[in-house]
Amino acid sequence: MRLNCFFMAAAVAAAAGRGARDEESWGPSGGSYLHRFPAPEAVTEATIRPRPRASLPAPPPAPNTSGAEPSRKRPKLERWNRFAVSIGYWHDPYIEHLVRQSKERKAPEINRGYFARVHGVSQLIKAFLRKTECRCQILNLGAGMDTTFWKLKDEGLLPNKYFEVDFPMIVTRKLHTIKNKPLLFRPIMELHPEDTLQIGNHMLDSKRYAIIGADLRDLSELEEKLKKCNMNTQLPTLLITECVLVYMTPEQSANLLKWAARSFETAMFINYEQVNMDDRFGQIMIENLRRRQCDLAGVETCKSLESQKERLLLNGWETASAVNMMELYSGLPRAEVNRIESLEFLDEMELLEQLMRHYCLCWATRGGQELGLKEITY
Ligand SMILES: C[S@@+](CC[C@H](N)C(=O)[O-])C[C@H]1O[C@@H](n2cnc3c(N)ncnc32)[C@H](O)[C@@H]1O
Repeated sequence: MRLNCFFMAAAVAAAAGRGARDEESWGPSGGSYLHRFPAPEAVTEATIRPRPRASLPAPPPAPNTSGAEPSRKRPKLERWNRFAVSIGYWHDPYIEHLVRQSKERKAPEINRGYFARVHGVSQLIKAFLRKTECRCQILNLGAGMDTTFWKLKDEGLLPNKYFEVDFPMIVTRKLHTIKNKPLLFRPIMELHPEDTLQIGNHMLDSKRYAIIGADLRDLSELEEKLKKCNMNTQLPTLLITECVLVYMTPEQSANLLKWAARSFETAMFINYEQVNMDDRFGQIMIENLRRRQCDLAGVETCKSLESQKERLLLNGWETASAVNMMELYSGLPRAEVNRIESLEFLDEMELLEQLMRHYCLCWATRGGQELGLKEITY
């Protein structure tokens, strides 16, 4: 995402009165990565007023909920991120190499939501890097086509090592691009003094960057692969999941959070995903998805900011904070908000606010008293 997921897209499309569309399969055996989009009539039952729009976003596919790997059909969801970058929401010279430009214009609500998310996550990452003076490691779990590693390098803010994990099929695709694009490959090699690079189909391990194909629900495999790539459990560690946990059952995400809390003495966890899914707006979204054979396995934990924090606290994290994206957006620097709001016309704020209230940024810490990790905020 950097996609402000699927729900946003579906809601925007539906609110604008556009029909549901089968986008594409990102799913196992033609199956559960295949998400069909909500019928508009159902979402318009919510408090969203339909309004005309010339060109609306194609709803992106949602990730796997079944446990199998995504099918070979390529997901297009990253294109939302790329589109927002292409019209100037934020700077990312790398995304165009990893993600093809979408033919369709994306809705301003989505782009603003995306902007808030990128801003919020980046603030937390940088706060962690400052507190640890970059003597740390970052694990981006379910990283997709994320470009944070390259952006941090440009800013002179790299941790000791940056790890990305995703399904082997996604990693193979990303790795193929990295190897073929000097802009992506060179920075990795510049930081890797040795002659040889550990590189396979589903992994690359270099001194400062590793990308690993693994299933986040298989924790022994995950740990083994990370250790092979020299993950250091003694280092302060930042773990990031953006739009990932919601596709795992509550038990699976709890296990991942427990594993993370157990594995690192000093750590922070950042999670971005849906919230308030218990209200009318959220329920309509869920009902639509269910009708279309799509169960968001982890939606139960997305009831409220409290349920999000509780999951973290119950699974080994000492502090937990959460903010909905509307609150975060309202607190963004005025100059930046003015700048992005001048990029595209948005005739009414109601839908933007509804959507933003259904996403949240959560973060948790463990240990790190001496570093002041508990003080970190967005
Ligand atoms: C919605 S995408 C988000 C990608 C990225 N975090 C971002 O925000 O741009 C979800 C990602 O999580 C990955 N993912 C979901 N479940 C996973 C699992 N069990 N193991 C590994 N990766 C998983 C998907 O393959 C996909 O790349």
